[in-house]
Amino acid sequence: MRSAARLPSVPPRTNDAPADPRPIGVFDSGVGGLTVARALMDLLPDERVVYVGDTARGPYGPRDLGEVRGFTVEIVDWLAAQDTKLVVAACNTATAAALETAPLSFPVPVLGVIAPAVAAAVRATRNDRIGVVGTVGTVRSGAYDRAVAAAAPDVKLFAQACPRFVELVETGRTTDAEVLDVAAGYLAPLVAAEVDTVILGCTHYPLLTGVLSFVLGPDVVLVSSAEETARTVFARLVRGGLLAHQAVPAHRFVATGDGAAFARLAERFLGPRLRDVDVERL
Ligand code: DGL
Repeated sequence: MRSAARLPSVPPRTNDAPADPRPIGVFDSGVGGLTVARALMDLLPDERVVYVGDTARGPYGPRDLGEVRGFTVEIVDWLAAQDTKLVVAACNTATAAALETAPLSFPVPVLGVIAPAVAAAVRATRNDRIGVVGTVGTVRSGAYDRAVAAAAPDVKLFAQACPRFVELVETGRTTDAEVLDVAAGYLAPLVAAEVDTVILGCTHYPLLTGVLSFVLGPDVVLVSSAEETARTVFARLVRGGLLAHQAVPAHRFVATGDGAAFARLAERFLGPRLRDVDVERL
């Protein structure tokens, strides 16, 4: 006889359920984290997002990890002061620097993008060979290697830095012949390693899904850290009774550098949901 499947326990939701209207903080070195914000807005349309793009100091990928830890502390403090209920470090390099490597304590709960993606990749792999692509900082940190070893010691991880991808995406180049060439070069070691699952370990890479899938072939499962992180946030809010019930949430977008440049690029990542961009010096 088959035993009945156990359903997760979900707090009842009624129109009278207490709501937590405080916003979710999301930050990145620039516009890339908007792929995570977009996934969050799709899954949690009642939630208000306060997004910080640290354009004055990004990109973080080529920077020293200690420096990125310091930026992360400053931004989380600023977002905590905006009365956020939760902050998402929507940047793999910041997650690697401040959450996975000697985690810091923060004044508000902070979720990163690495653990959710690793959990999904470990579930997806059929041959226990996973690849991850990311910035130089993320790959050098070894954060994905440690996370995979902790989650599934039998799984082998192959990490590949792809330093040119961020610049190509930010200049709007996601389909041309040079992008295909660059991708083929970066991904050759992963193809040779016969990985069957690849984690998009950088916020910009969901915009390269077409080219990555084309080069790796249709049998390789691509795991987007943006989507997996949004699902983790969803579960956290439901379980914590922290959901908001807002008719039309007014998101706020903040850039630490040139607001107009942020807005131009951000449209590509977020589409028409982008409103005015405020500029703040942190
Ligand atoms: N947001 C960064 C990441 O996900 C990519 C851009 C950068 O180098 O700052 O690692």
